[in-house]
Amino acid sequence: MADISIPENLLPADGRFGCGPSKVRDEQISFLSSLQPGTLGTSHRQAPVKNLVGSVRDGLSELFQAPEGYEILLANGGATTFWDSAVHSLIERRGQFLTFGEFGSKFAKAAAAAPFLEAPDVRAADAGSRSSLLAAEGIDVYAYPHNETSTGVMTDVVRAQGDAGALTIVDATSAAGGIDFDASQTDVYYFSPQKNFASDGGIWFALVSPAAIERIERLTAGDRYIPETLNLGGALENSRKNQTLNTPALAPLAMMDEQIRWMNSNGGLKWASARTAESSQILYKWAENSSVATPFVTEEAHRSQVVVTIDFDDSIDASAISKALRANGIVDTEPYRKLGRNQLRIATFTAIDPADVQKLTECIDYVLERI
Ligand SMILES: Cc1ncc(COP(=O)(O)O)c(C=O)c1O
Repeated sequence: MADISIPENLLPADGRFGCGPSKVRDEQISFLSSLQPGTLGTSHRQAPVKNLVGSVRDGLSELFQAPEGYEILLANGGATTFWDSAVHSLIERRGQFLTFGEFGSKFAKAAAAAPFLEAPDVRAADAGSRSSLLAAEGIDVYAYPHNETSTGVMTDVVRAQGDAGALTIVDATSAAGGIDFDASQTDVYYFSPQKNFASDGGIWFALVSPAAIERIERLTAGDRYIPETLNLGGALENSRKNQTLNTPALAPLAMMDEQIRWMNSNGGLKWASARTAESSQILYKWAENSSVATPFVTEEAHRSQVVVTIDFDDSIDASAISKALRANGIVDTEPYRKLGRNQLRIATFTAIDPADVQKLTECIDYVLERI
């Protein structure tokens, strides 16, 4: 294959389409430099940083339209760390897990490995489809991803029908800030910020309900050994003071703060959700009209608004497309590494301009004509 040079006028203004870390807006970087020297490089136990954390927490509550009594928690470590925290501080005896991709499965594995819990009830489905909750005796936590980043399947944020006492815990890492939902349908809506919030990883946030707070307080006051870094009781106490147990990275908090302000000032989650729906539809329609491409997720309602997966015919080597795009500054369109499909995976997170997604389809067409 000869080198393909895409004409300048076809290229998107920003070529970052990765599923996380993902595109950071220039305004976030400008805001970050505006914090130099008053906030950056100063103590996280003093007012400037605590006010920044407070602003992020307030902004998230507004964005999610947090119901009465819901709070925003945060702690160091990303969603992966949150899984271990939930295993220790939220699951009482047995959880039910929906698994249909890498991330949902990892949480289920973390629970299965805990010697103090009963074997989890795992409801699995093949990649590209999804499973659903089934209320069952003895389950005290129902867990699933709002968006399975590895496959591009999204779910509806709903509680298990007919189970009043259990908690609903939703992994919102790639959905939060990009897909609208009803917060009253969940007890814990947790995420890392390197997707729709266009920030950096290494920290987690969670919207938690009064029932989840009660569970955390009860479990962490009990006999179970809980490492301090995974103790959600400590995270609750520290978050209420706009602090973290140990030193946080300040730059991601600042980038996050600016992104939340941008979302809220444009119309909040409804606006963000409409924007990601528009971007993703451009790609799904393009794939449906293509003779060599098809959306990987067959059920339309399950197709993600924020992570679009497109399969290609055997006659086309998708990795050659992503390689050619990368050589032209359009990066991270490769499929999830363990999925092993002849596929492109494209993020349509809130920061990504729908006009750039349109341009991307034109670039793919240009490449397809030449490989
Ligand atoms: C749905 C989902 N959950 C969890 C994670 C893990 O996040 P982190 O790497 O920040 O721990 C990811 C990362 O991509 C994800 O997409």
